[in-house]
Amino acid sequence: MTARLLVFDSGIGGLSVLREIRRQLPSAEIAYVADNAAFPYGDWDAAPLSDHIVALMGRLIGRFAPDAVVIACNTASTLVLPPLRALHAIPFIGTVPAIKPAAKRSQSGVVGVLATPGTMKRDYTRELIRSFARDCHVRLVGSSELAPLAEAVMRGAAVDGAAIRAEIEPAFIEVDGKRTDTIVLACTHYPFLIDRLEAIAPWPVTWIDPAEAIARRVLSVLSLPPDPDGTLLRTGQAYLTSGKPWPRQLMPVLASMGLQGEIL
Ligand code: DGL
Repeated sequence: MTARLLVFDSGIGGLSVLREIRRQLPSAEIAYVADNAAFPYGDWDAAPLSDHIVALMGRLIGRFAPDAVVIACNTASTLVLPPLRALHAIPFIGTVPAIKPAAKRSQSGVVGVLATPGTMKRDYTRELIRSFARDCHVRLVGSSELAPLAEAVMRGAAVDGAAIRAEIEPAFIEVDGKRTDTIVLACTHYPFLIDRLEAIAPWPVTWIDPAEAIARRVLSVLSLPPDPDGTLLRTGQAYLTSGKPWPRQLMPVLASMGLQGEIL
């Protein structure tokens, strides 16, 4: 049996989650939708963003009839999972800041969370910290720039290291002689910057990317066994909500994920 999945993000960052789903379940039939007409979500106010995503998701579910939807976006997941679950009978797998594993992993007890301004402000995120990182000092950093910078890097554009460094530096702190040792990548775009982040970081830290755990969750929700050796790599389709064709520079990225760029 193959699963039909709709994987959704504001942009191309959600491909970091799709890549892991592909690895664990190569046979999945995937439609990837990037809501580039509304990108970036990070600076939207909560109410209009929620209304926008709920309405768009209604149209996408009508069109693709997926078995499950993966919201591969922290800014959306920390906001819209409850209304989506109330409206649709299919499972929604969200992506929320990996604060729990980061708190478990940290030795110094000083944890950084890199996110969009929207994710940083959400009650959902604050609640994760209250529930799972009580004993840690958590520095939440909301950046409007980092997701667009990640998209530029993915398009192969030259991005100045100083611009990235300015966005991540506030997550590197020292509290009572202890330094940040673990940083949560709480936006699905950021794993695509990992090489740059490692090179630019003021000191080495453990970066937490939740993609693998999310892919495992997809399998468990659909009661599917992992099939990492599956040879049946189905071609998926990737759509942009702007209705424009995919930029030529992104074709290699889509191809590496087994996706064909389509017009929505
Ligand atoms: N990829 C999205 C996330 O995980 C956010 C990027 C944006 O639209 O600001 O939060």
